[in-house]
Amino acid sequence: MATSFDLNGKVALVTGGGQNTGLGIGRTLAEYGATVVVNDVIPERAESGAAAIRDDGGSAIAAPFDITDYEDVATAVKAAEQQVGPVDILVNNAGLPIGGQMLPFLESKPEQWRPYIDINVYGSLNMMHVVLPGMVERGWGRVVQISSGSGSVASRGLGGSMYGAGKAGIEGAVRHIATEVGPRGVTVNTLALGLMEKLRETIESGVSPVLNAIWQGNIMQHLGTGEDVGAACLWLCSEAGEFITGQTMHLNGGSFPGR
Ligand SMILES: NC(=O)c1ccc[n+]([C@@H]2O[C@H](COP(=O)([O-])OP(=O)(O)OC[C@H]3O[C@@H](n4cnc5c(N)ncnc54)[C@H](O)[C@@H]3O)[C@@H](O)[C@H]2O)c1
Repeated sequence: MATSFDLNGKVALVTGGGQNTGLGIGRTLAEYGATVVVNDVIPERAESGAAAIRDDGGSAIAAPFDITDYEDVATAVKAAEQQVGPVDILVNNAGLPIGGQMLPFLESKPEQWRPYIDINVYGSLNMMHVVLPGMVERGWGRVVQISSGSGSVASRGLGGSMYGAGKAGIEGAVRHIATEVGPRGVTVNTLALGLMEKLRETIESGVSPVLNAIWQGNIMQHLGTGEDVGAACLWLCSEAGEFITGQTMHLNGGSFPGR
């Protein structure tokens, strides 16, 4: 009977885990026993994220690397595995490129498109390509892809075309990947997030009519926290999550009901 949420003995790697959502996810998985590998492209963030988890009483190491660089990913994952053991759980959380800018497509330049595809599609594919063979070989694994409502819904004035392309692209890929690895004990699911706590100031200032319109539709009037996302990851990544794979679940306080 698959009912345990215990992650003792499991190693979880969270990309972009140094702050905000990724840190909340890492903290939650560590609270339930996982050893967390905190990745971030900014080394200080990886270090401070791992330190925060250890301060909570959890087990964590920092793994600074750029998920968009396949060689970097392969080398760094191998080094982390030598320290703490094979990766059982991967949370592909990094999805906002450093310095990325949301803007209307017609006002964008081609060089502004690539970062959203690089981080969401190539970055997540790099991670899965490196860790999935080990999971499949051991007959157990969990992958959670962090996406956004922007992967399936467009909002007038958001300027989210490239962000949406990155999120929709990787959501499409992970569904198919789930079919390949499921028979070998590995589940792959997507969590599509809505407005998060970090946007509170922008929403309260009223400078973004599109964000305020989405906020109006948020049934629970709740901005998401890393721990909200961590709770969903905990379920998907534990034994209790064994019955769900290949799915996209929307965590958004009830914005866009029915999703
Ligand atoms: N913030 C929101 O309102 C919101 C809404 C919907 C979905 N999301 C999604 O949630 C996820 C996390 O968002 P957040 O707001 O916590 O982001 P954030 O930017 O606050 O944190 C993400 C971390 O990723 C790191 N990072 C960036 N590029 C990287 C790379 N190439 N390799 C490794 N690490 C890298 C950054 O240094 C940063 O510390 C993203 O996938 C984002 O698209 C966020």
